[in-house]
Amino acid sequence: MSRIARYLRIFYRRVEFFTTFLLVQRVMQRSLLLKIMNKTILITGASRGIGAACVRYAEKMGLGVVATARSKDKLDALQEQYPTIQTIVADISTAKGRETIASRIKQPLDFLLHNAAVLYPPKKLIEADNTEFTQSITINVEPIIFLTQQLLPQLKQAHDKARILTLTSRAANNAYAGIGSYCISKAAALMATNVLKTELEPMGILINSYSPGVVDTAMQKTLRSSTDEIFPYSSDFKQLKTDNKLITPKHVAEHLITALTSLPETGFMHDTIKFKP
Ligand SMILES: NC(=O)c1ccc[n+]([C@@H]2O[C@H](COP(=O)([O-])OP(=O)(O)OC[C@H]3O[C@@H](n4cnc5c(N)ncnc54)[C@H](OP(=O)(O)O)[C@@H]3O)[C@@H](O)[C@H]2O)c1
Repeated sequence: MSRIARYLRIFYRRVEFFTTFLLVQRVMQRSLLLKIMNKTILITGASRGIGAACVRYAEKMGLGVVATARSKDKLDALQEQYPTIQTIVADISTAKGRETIASRIKQPLDFLLHNAAVLYPPKKLIEADNTEFTQSITINVEPIIFLTQQLLPQLKQAHDKARILTLTSRAANNAYAGIGSYCISKAAALMATNVLKTELEPMGILINSYSPGVVDTAMQKTLRSSTDEIFPYSSDFKQLKTDNKLITPKHVAEHLITALTSLPETGFMHDTIKFKP
């Protein structure tokens, strides 16, 4: 065989391989699209930060999105940008707010993202404000239990097994001075998630926690506003911001929504899912 003929053969084999690769990729994209078509996700804390980024990415993936938070102006702005999403203005720390959300969701609920949370400006736990402590629990823990409880009928109607993710943090497992109320609330939220994991699985509902890492949101701004004397990691977080090393909400949203919708069941249920760049 001449040299030219040999080169041509190699060239055609590569073209063939590349075409097959593109075809497989298109089939996989199509099957993922078919998998999430007609499915609905509810995202709490959708007005900014990780929650708003998740709304954008879930909408882009073709999911029906229900976005909830207290800030009507921010939800209205999101809906103007993404007219197909449904928005619900509600305070998830109150029974009334949670009832409003449950009563407005008429369709089966395939995915639920418990993302909303509060972190008050750092303060030593020994000097804690009782109202802020209570609010940390009612906002960061109670919805995981009681909003899930209210949404059980819609979750049970999910197309496949419904999946729930709750946002956790290193603060759930580590004692950080200055953000004690947040640490306690996140530890309780993680335990609530793990107890629900054992109770919901027999009902065909899967729940797990997701740890996003250090993300560039309003919550991080609150941590940077402190001093090392009150919150010893304040300088570290300021440095991460200066060095442009904070994770973007967009990156977290892409990883989180993909994990929520596409991880095989065993991978989804294994342990806390962690953000991977
Ligand atoms: N950023 C990080 O580095 C980091 C690290 C680890 C874990 N996390 C976790 O990731 C999640 C999102 O954090 P983020 O940084 O995106 O926070 P963020 O920017 O402060 O956003 C918090 C969201 O929660 C909503 N929210 C607060 N209280 C609420 C209430 N009572 N009712 C309804 N919605 C309420 C807020 O909306 P409204 O004010 O409009 O109600 C807002 O949309 C949280 O669970 C957080 O603990 C974040």
